[in-house]
Amino acid sequence: MKLFIFTPILLALGVCSVSAGSWHHRPGGKPGSSSIQADDFIKVDGMRLKDSSGNIQYLTGINYWACLNLAADADQGGQYYRFITELDQLQAVGINHLRIMAGSEGNPTHQPFRMYPAMQPSPGEYNEKIFVGLDRCLAEMARRGMRATMTLNDQWQWSGGFAQYVSWTHGNEKLEYPPSWNLSAPPQRPGPPGRGWGNYTTTGDWNNYTTYGNQIYTDAPAETLFKAHIDKVLNRKNTVNGRVYKDDATVMSWQLANEPQPQVPKVFLGPYGLQLPPNPNDPLLPWIDRISTYIKQRAPKQLITVGFEGKQGEWYWKKVHEPKNVDYTTTHCWVQNWGVYDMNNASAANLQAAKDFATEFITNSSRWANEIGKPVFLEEFGMARDNWENDVSKGEYQYASTATTTHKDNYYKHIIGLAMDSFKSQSGGYVGTCPWAYGGNYRPETQHENKFGEVWAGDPPHEAPGWYDVYDTDEALNIVAEQKKEIDSFLSK
Ligand SMILES: *[C@@H]1O[C@H](CO)[C@@H](O)[C@H](O)[C@H]1NC(C)=O
Ligand SMILES: *[C@@H]1O[C@H](CO)[C@@H](O)[C@H](O)[C@H]1NC(C)=O
Ligand SMILES: *[C@@H]1O[C@H](CO)[C@@H](O)[C@H](O)[C@H]1NC(C)=O
Ligand SMILES: *[C@@H]1O[C@H](CO)[C@@H](O)[C@H](O)[C@H]1NC(C)=O
Ligand SMILES: *[C@@H]1O[C@H](CO)[C@@H](O)[C@H](O)[C@H]1NC(C)=O
Repeated sequence: MKLFIFTPILLALGVCSVSAGSWHHRPGGKPGSSSIQADDFIKVDGMRLKDSSGNIQYLTGINYWACLNLAADADQGGQYYRFITELDQLQAVGINHLRIMAGSEGNPTHQPFRMYPAMQPSPGEYNEKIFVGLDRCLAEMARRGMRATMTLNDQWQWSGGFAQYVSWTHGNEKLEYPPSWNLSAPPQRPGPPGRGWGNYTTTGDWNNYTTYGNQIYTDAPAETLFKAHIDKVLNRKNTVNGRVYKDDATVMSWQLANEPQPQVPKVFLGPYGLQLPPNPNDPLLPWIDRISTYIKQRAPKQLITVGFEGKQGEWYWKKVHEPKNVDYTTTHCWVQNWGVYDMNNASAANLQAAKDFATEFITNSSRWANEIGKPVFLEEFGMARDNWENDVSKGEYQYASTATTTHKDNYYKHIIGLAMDSFKSQSGGYVGTCPWAYGGNYRPETQHENKFGEVWAGDPPHEAPGWYDVYDTDEALNIVAEQKKEIDSFLSK
């Protein structure tokens, strides 16, 4: 879910051999006081989120974008047993929020680097079994006291997204993919085919891909299709628990898109070359106003957020979050993708550079949030494992799960600590964190692509599987659990 500027990115296809889980109806979770009542909606009150009883909420989140596919039937590539197991694992460490996809788009020809099967294979046509997967996600989350960010669209190729909507309305125009991970490319894992490793193969330009997708902001037929998707999802009646999505408090918020980008500028500014010059005529801005208003009119009980990263700097971040129907703000922090951190550099100075950037970024965005008076959620961040330990020249996989996580753990404690400090401050600001992304029992070493070409790592199908995964045995989960304890203790004072 992230724009890759300095290093090529992406992945491909497959399913984890350890858990080709059959469909088990094993209800998990501890129902009772922790479950989400249908009418217990979250509201924004100043710089805080509160439930319907007025209790301050802190989001101990994690990204679990593939939920709808994992929870689907096995004949759709689902792994229901894995899904239930992973939700139980997340509940056990205190996770109360998942950021998940609420849309994915197909194409008449099978496209690389995508989630398959798609929820919406062609305009207005839905794969009911994948939709049922989404029903199961929300129903099982409600049982476990977890609320959702429902991401409705995507700037990037891994779910179809903006470029697919535009392609649909342009006679299925062919897409030129930016550098994307190809699980079938050499080098290959020894043994039968379909097990990775792979490499980056496509050579399109990121800025060109962004510009192509951004036509959605001004293409009226594409907007009509997207609004029809919004209507479809908002009015969906959950086949598991009977709740209509727009009346279900398990849906904390509707997110316009994953990382919608401004118009590509002529120059990038700032010390990291990430900032954009102000552009008051950017079509992104009225699009956010129109789409957020469209959703608010139809789902007034739930919150709305944009899905913006914040790397573009203060002017854009404030403008994007200014529309009155945008209830709270977000940030994504990507130190490697943004050229600040090198996953093959074991030095303390490299780690320190990442931490220094995070300090600046969280401090800045916390201030920006206070200045516009809307809370901020750190809904994406990640760091690779100690991948310098993997010797690619000896045929080892660059992203092998055997690498330790010393830098990652140190960085997680630091950035989560920054968000907690902001939350605990007098003025408030940050309202939670959401690392990228839960891979649970997936491992590159046991992956095998399924008949749809998917492996379902925590990394989406255009990025190297295992790059940012949080595994079920990783220290990261303990850090998340400590966060939960610290916040609970703070809130009980
Ligand atoms: C992926 O790699 C395979 C093997 O090298 C190649 O045949 C195929 O064209 C590649 N696909 C894309 C979309 O680059
Ligand atoms: C993987 O791709 C990179 C970039 O194109 C290339 O430099 C490298 O040689 C490739 N690795 C293998 C093993 O083919
Ligand atoms: C990006 O788009 C420009 C303008 O259409 C084109 O000239 C250029 O070749 C493209 N770059 C790549 C890498 O595809
Ligand atoms: C590792 O990172 C540090 C800090 O950025 C830098 O000074 C050093 O040159 C890097 N080492 C290598 C081998 O890139
Ligand atoms: C933080 O804000 C300062 C002052 O506007 C700016 O110079 C700096 O580049 C920002 N840093 C980040 C990481 O956003």
